[in-house]
Amino acid sequence: IQTHQISTQIFASPLFSRLVLRNSSSIIPRRKLSLHQSSIAIVIVIEIILLFMATLISDSAPWKDLKAHVSDINKKHLRDLMTDTDRCKSMMLEFDEIFLDYSRQCATLDTMSKLFKLAEAAHLKQKITSMFNGEHINSTENRSVLHVALRASKDTKINCDGKNVVPDVWQVLDKIKEFSDKIRNGSWVGATGKKLTNVIAIGIGGSFLGPLFVHTALQTDPEASKSAGGRQLRFLANVDPVDVARNITGLDPETTLVVVVSKTFTTAETMLNARTLREWISSALGPQAVSKHMVAVSTNLKLVEKFGIDPNNAFAFWDWVGGRYSVCSAVGVLPLSLQYGFPVVEKFLKGASSIDQHFLSAPFEKNIPVLLGLLSVWNVSFLEYPARAILPYTQALEKLAPHIQQVSMESNGKGVSIDGVRLPFEAGEIDFGEPGTNGQHSFYQLIHQGRVIPCDFIGIVKSQQPVYLKDEVVNNHDELMSNFFAQPDALAYGKTPEQLKSENVASHLIPHKTFTGNRPSLSLLLPSLDAYRIGQLLAIYEHRIAVEGFIWGINSFDQWGVELGKSLASQVRKQLHASRKKGESVEGFNFSTTKMLTRYLEASAD
Ligand code: F6P
Repeated sequence: IQTHQISTQIFASPLFSRLVLRNSSSIIPRRKLSLHQSSIAIVIVIEIILLFMATLISDSAPWKDLKAHVSDINKKHLRDLMTDTDRCKSMMLEFDEIFLDYSRQCATLDTMSKLFKLAEAAHLKQKITSMFNGEHINSTENRSVLHVALRASKDTKINCDGKNVVPDVWQVLDKIKEFSDKIRNGSWVGATGKKLTNVIAIGIGGSFLGPLFVHTALQTDPEASKSAGGRQLRFLANVDPVDVARNITGLDPETTLVVVVSKTFTTAETMLNARTLREWISSALGPQAVSKHMVAVSTNLKLVEKFGIDPNNAFAFWDWVGGRYSVCSAVGVLPLSLQYGFPVVEKFLKGASSIDQHFLSAPFEKNIPVLLGLLSVWNVSFLEYPARAILPYTQALEKLAPHIQQVSMESNGKGVSIDGVRLPFEAGEIDFGEPGTNGQHSFYQLIHQGRVIPCDFIGIVKSQQPVYLKDEVVNNHDELMSNFFAQPDALAYGKTPEQLKSENVASHLIPHKTFTGNRPSLSLLLPSLDAYRIGQLLAIYEHRIAVEGFIWGINSFDQWGVELGKSLASQVRKQLHASRKKGESVEGFNFSTTKMLTRYLEASAD
């Protein structure tokens, strides 16, 4: 109906008649068109009409209704909202022992029902189903988005372009299992016959952050650390030679396996780091050692071979896996299996898969990623809070925020809709975070008394590494969790001048000690943090971010915004080459860059 109304409006509009009808004699050629020409013309006309008809979610009635609803919410304080126990009860839910409490969001049950209407207007259900069905929802790259297939059980069928991809996924997983078993049990050894006990994974962005997050979280999990048995896994991402030095320091090429991880196998930083470590190996052990000490993960197996890595030692994935969604492909599974053994990684995949099923089938009111996604849209687009803090109360999750930063900001940091129409609202959010309680002694001041930043508090019931001190009833983990429970209330309730007066606080200090409160947060409580739970947490965030993008009507699965900087860096690289090799002076850059570049060349010449 809406589409029909819009097209009627377009055809009835004076602009349409002025542009199209009056000029039809010049638009419609008099000569006869061939079948091919006519079909092209029809396609162009349809595309133009579709572009005119492209609707933005901000034009929908539920969006406008939510906009109007903001003033109702602004009249309420969380301090009061929290007294309504029925509201609080309705804003709590549990799935598979994961407990979500979003009662400290600046929202009422009315807000939630309006958000569900927004989800309907954005066709959220259909979009989720299209993703799982392998439709090409990444339209600018004409690709499916099927990271959920990477963790599907063997008997599942997930079609991509008419082919079930699950057997391909499992073929690679089986190959990883076999290879990592060989490395771990010593049936595959290095060029000098020694066991390969250390792994350096080279990769950047999505080929680094996800695996690093999972590795950091598993490191202190008793089951995983036992099966690591003294092995080392390091990650080389930055092209900075300092990162190279940090990675190879203390490692012996004889006992080191290098895994080059790159979806495209063209990323400048990764390829230079790969050449650097290839030289490190071959200068120590001879060029023939490379085949024993270097393997690859990529979608581009031709370039892997060209680089000099035996294609039999390459682990494939597919263009329907986005870089930042690739941790469940060989990108993460290979290095993590080498370090912890395949069974631990399989458990991680099962965790992610359990959330996939929940996301696909749970009704929206009980669907954790959907609720989190809708609340983020509410906070960003309606309450106009542009950032989000990710605050896990466990050191094991110290790399969660950096990973989610990429998944979220590269996915949803877009300025146009999926149809290419400039957005009249801001999409995406600024993600940052630190584990508690460290963050409390860093940026929480701003969160409590400065800007309003919606927070995700993540707590774990059973610590990975509990410590019980003699004579202390409240153990270390309890101490940590006391903060996890206290902070959301401090943010929500604040502290009023009246309370301060009743405490006899000096009047000149009252403004400084006042906490306005009414600062939204949500809390996720996980029973433990093992491989399975880490997989669940990953999938919750991945799907939450997809939900946000689906509502905003953007393409969360491309990343054109990273290209411009890359191409400018390649111009600079060419200039550095020409200046160093032939002494050419800096040319073709603006005044400021020329000045700075010349200074760099001169000062680094000796
Ligand atoms: O930063 C841009 C980007 O393309 C990311 O999307 C990707 O994760 C990263 O570079 C690494 O790419 P590749 O895996 O192809 O080396």
